[in-house]
This record gives sequence, C-alpha cells and structure tokens, in this order.
Amino acid sequence: MAEFSLPANSKVRKDGRVFKAPAGATNIRVFKIYRFDPDLAENPRLDSYEVDMDACGPMVLDALIKIKNEIDPTLSFRRSCREGICGSCAMNIDGKNGLACVSACADVKQDVKIYPLPHMPVIKDLVPDLTNFYAQYASIKPWLQTRTPAPPDSERMQTKEDQEKVDRPSACILCACCSTSCPSYWWNSDRYLGPAALLAAYRWIVDSRDEAAGERLDYLEDPFRLYRCHTIMNCTEACPKDLNPAKAIGEIKQMMAHRRH
Ligand code: SF4
Ligand code: SF4
Ligand code: FES
Repeated sequence: MAEFSLPANSKVRKDGRVFKAPAGATNIRVFKIYRFDPDLAENPRLDSYEVDMDACGPMVLDALIKIKNEIDPTLSFRRSCREGICGSCAMNIDGKNGLACVSACADVKQDVKIYPLPHMPVIKDLVPDLTNFYAQYASIKPWLQTRTPAPPDSERMQTKEDQEKVDRPSACILCACCSTSCPSYWWNSDRYLGPAALLAAYRWIVDSRDEAAGERLDYLEDPFRLYRCHTIMNCTEACPKDLNPAKAIGEIKQMMAHRRH
C-alpha cells in the first residue's frame, strides 16, 4: 500500500493544466480536479476543465465521464452503477464527501472542486487505496455466525421487529464517505476501525439470528478499535445513504458498559 502513498507534506500545486471549453459554448462550468500520477515524481496538481453544461448531464459523475471521454482520457476515477448503490464513485466534492453520481453540479456554487476521499493513500487521481478499509471490514467478520443447527424444515426465521433492527444498517454501501470524514480515523486508521466497519459490526451484533455477539464485542473491546470514536458525528453527516454510524457506535459502547456491570 505504501508505494501509492503521496510524499509526506506534498502540496497540491494550483498551476495545473487548463482545458478550455469549445468555441461557442455559452453555459460553462469549471471543474478543478485533483490529479496525481504515481509514475511522475511530482506533487499532485489541480487541473481545470471548462465543460459545456448544455452538452452534459446534471450530475458531477456525468461531468467526469464527459471529461474523460471527450477532453482528457488520462483522468482516473471509479464508478459503476450511476444510481447511488455501488459506492464506487465516493469522492470529495466542494469540500464534502459524497457520491458523484447523485451529486448535482447545480448544488455547487462557483467552480466544482473535486478531490479524492481525504486522508487515504492515492493510487491515481480520484482513486484512493481502500485496501486497509476493506481489511477492517473483513476483520469484523461480516457474515452470520451460528453455533446451533438451523431448523430442519425452515430458514432461521426473524420477527419483523428483529428484522427492522438490521434493516437500515444493512443498507450500507461501503462507500467510505463516513470513515474518511472522521478525524479519529484520519489520525489512527491503522488501529481505529472507523465508522463504516463499526456500523457493520453493530449490524451483526444486533442480528437476532447471529450467535457470536460475545466474540464480536470481545474483538471491539480495545482502546483503539472502538474507543477512538469521540462522537464528533462527521460520519453520520457524511453518509449519502442517511445511515447513522455514530449512533450505532454509541450503542456498542453501551453494550460494553452493560457487560462490565
Ligand atoms: S462519531 Fe465517531 S466515528 Fe463518527 S466521525 Fe465522530 S469520531 Fe468518527
Ligand atoms: S455508513 Fe454510509 S457513508 Fe459509511 S460506508 Fe456505509 S453508506 Fe458509506
Ligand atoms: S456509481 Fe455507484 S454509487 Fe455512484
């Protein structure tokens, strides 16, 4: 992972390339986009792209695709569904983490500034290295763990009330908008699991069918994995799916406290 990391204290150069809009365009927006090429031994820079919005879809991802297809094929970013479902297009737009495919250009005043998710190693341009993020997700064992055999003639059933406890947390798309907006995660992402992984842990702890809640809590009982959360709430504010990782983390802390008494 380290090979992709930016040099320490590398400053983003503001003197990047400028791509002018075609002659005759009258509805122009400027997109200032973070560029980093690991093969060039230089600091990242901001390139400016003038885009004719009369010939472009309304979302930030539409503009990025137009830039890549028609203006500068060297630009790298992730995307897949264009529906806010896959989580691939998470990036920092106008200073806030979000999904480019569901972020309207019209909601940004003046130039549209686009950076990769903050405080992550950058592979290229808007593509962060999520290796550690996914490893942390895997570490909470995000699957059903049981000790008792399933009923012989049915699935493991759940009441409607029990299903509702896992319904919202299960909607997490692992976009990483929350974890990369969390100051505790910025400074301790090697040891603090961060809100996305902790929300996933919560989802399995409260699942009425799961029989490993004790082990799951044991794993989180650690000064860094869980307790680096200082309830700053950036995570919940950043979530494009309106989930509440901060509340889930608070509930895990309460479960820990109850276990001690
Ligand atoms: S509530 Fe916890 S996880 Fe969320 S941003 Fe704050 S410190 Fe990070
Ligand atoms: S909790 Fe929200 S912001 Fe965090 S990874 Fe899941 S969907 Fe993305
Ligand atoms: S492209 Fe899938 S969430 Fe944006």
